[in-house]
Amino acid sequence: MRHLIDPMDLSVKEIDDLLDLADHIIENKKRYAKVCEGKKLATLFFEPSTRTRLSFEAAMMELGGNVLGFSSADSSSSTKGESVSDTVKVVSCYADIIAMRHPKEGAPFLASMKSDSPIINAGDGGHNHPTQTLTDLLTIRREKGRLDNITVGFCGDLKFGRTVHSLIKALSRYENVTYIMISPEELEIPNYLKEEVFGKEGMTFEQVRTIDEVIDRLDVLYMTRVQKERFFNEADYIRLKDTYILDMPKLKKAKENLSILHPLPRVNEIAVEVDDDPRACYFRQALNGKFVRMALIMMMLGMGKVE
Ligand code: CP
Repeated sequence: MRHLIDPMDLSVKEIDDLLDLADHIIENKKRYAKVCEGKKLATLFFEPSTRTRLSFEAAMMELGGNVLGFSSADSSSSTKGESVSDTVKVVSCYADIIAMRHPKEGAPFLASMKSDSPIINAGDGGHNHPTQTLTDLLTIRREKGRLDNITVGFCGDLKFGRTVHSLIKALSRYENVTYIMISPEELEIPNYLKEEVFGKEGMTFEQVRTIDEVIDRLDVLYMTRVQKERFFNEADYIRLKDTYILDMPKLKKAKENLSILHPLPRVNEIAVEVDDDPRACYFRQALNGKFVRMALIMMMLGMGKVE
């Protein structure tokens, strides 16, 4: 039985196959309408979510399966003191596959050691968010036609941003990706990533403080929210939250074919006026999240392309 805890749990070939399957689902939706008939997905969300939980549930429904679960820790027996391991052990008696989000790093990994059904990490604290990474990879590949030979700017909260951490690790296996990190000093990428990913031969990154100084070089701009829920000190959050606001004047020097991604939710970091620019990909990205999760559910249940 396979679990998906970290994006590196999947080989490059598996990721490429999964993205191919997602593309095939997009082109042939009707063929996949019943492939999960009789199967159940449980969504165990100990932390709030709109896109991840609902796209998982929509994905299973569009595959003909059923869903059950909870959307907050408050409505589960964890409020009575039940451990994550016990919760998952029990839910794996009811569901064929489980998507789990938890504020504590490592909780889905712990759960995977007790579960009798495959566990998908739907985000653990500031650590990983592998299905967002698959969403991002599908979006970049559909927008740019490739995952190699690109210059990607990551902007905002690079310290606590699990979507950034997971995407950097996943992209590190593709050739000739240039990484430009745009953040205030306090929100730079963690040292473990600097050492584990950029410490490898041939891997480098640039660190800058403003979007303006690099916008003309970027093929992809990955914007992120400064996450209030990850700060211990509200004063620091207030000081840093509006450091970057992408608006139309900032895009003047950008490439015509720049792709602007954001895992969402956004707060102020992308002005609403940018939404109408064809370079804004973030709502297409959210839709891709449903298709890539359909492909992932199928793959983890041992199903392949429907010819
Ligand atoms: N991108 C993402 O994880 O969004 P949600 O928190 O709404 O699931």
